[in-house]
Amino acid sequence: MLELIARCPEFVSGYRDYCRELYDAPSLFFRPTDPDTIDDDWFERTKPWYDRKEKGLIPGQPVSFHYWAVDGDRFIGEFQFRPEFSRKVLHELGNVGYAVRPTEQGKGYGTEILRRGLELARSRGMTRVLLTIDERNAASLRVCEKLGGVWDDTVRVRGARMRRYWIALEKTVDSGARNG
Ligand SMILES: CC(C)(COP(=O)(O)OP(=O)(O)OC[C@H]1O[C@@H](n2cnc3c(N)ncnc32)[C@H](O)[C@@H]1OP(=O)(O)O)[C@@H](O)C(=O)NCCC(=O)NCCS
Repeated sequence: MLELIARCPEFVSGYRDYCRELYDAPSLFFRPTDPDTIDDDWFERTKPWYDRKEKGLIPGQPVSFHYWAVDGDRFIGEFQFRPEFSRKVLHELGNVGYAVRPTEQGKGYGTEILRRGLELARSRGMTRVLLTIDERNAASLRVCEKLGGVWDDTVRVRGARMRRYWIALEKTVDSGARNG
C-alpha cells in the first residue's frame, strides 16, 4: 500500500535510485536531486536545509514540506506540499508537486500520491489546492483531472505555458501520511 512518509535515513538509498532513474530519463517537467550528491552523509548534511524550508527560511522559496512515497520497502516517488498562497505559489509552483520513478510510472502511483497528498492538505486545514502544470505534461494533466482538477487559466512561466488547476477538498477523508 502506498504511503507518504517523512524523509528518513532508511529510504535514502531508494531515494538515490529514484533520482538516478529520473536523471537517466530526464523529464522536461521535473528535476530531481543530483544522485551523485547523495552519499552516506547526505541525509544529515541536508536535514537543516529541509528543516529551514519547512519554516519558510530559505530566501526566495515558499514554505515547503517534502514527503517520500513508498510501497512497503519500495521507493516510488515524492510529494511536495506548499501550503501558503504566496505569489510564487499562486503564479508559478502551485501548492503541490509530485513525481514517480520511471520504472513505476503508468501503474496508478502518480494518482495515488496526489490522492494521499490531497488528504494531507485537507488534514492541514486547506479547502482547495492549486496545481500548475505544463500544458505539454499529458500524464500530470490526466492525474490532476482524474482527481477533480478544474482548469482555471493558463499563465506563462519562463517561456512555458502552465495551466492552473484548482482541486476542492472533501471534508471527510483522513490523512494517509505518517511521521509527517
Ligand atoms: C506525472 C507522473 C507523476 C504520473 O505518474 P504515473 O504513476 O505514471 O501516474 P498514473 O499511472 O497514476 O496515471 C497516469 C495517467 O496519465 C496517462 N498518461 C500517461 N502518459 C500520457 C500521455 N502521453 N498522454 C495522455 N495520457 C497519458 C495514463 O494513461 C494515466 O491515465 P489513466 O489512468 O486514465 O490511464 C509521472 O509521469 C512523473 O513523475 N512525471 C515526471 C514528474 C512530473 O512531471 N511531475 C508533475 C509535475 S506538475
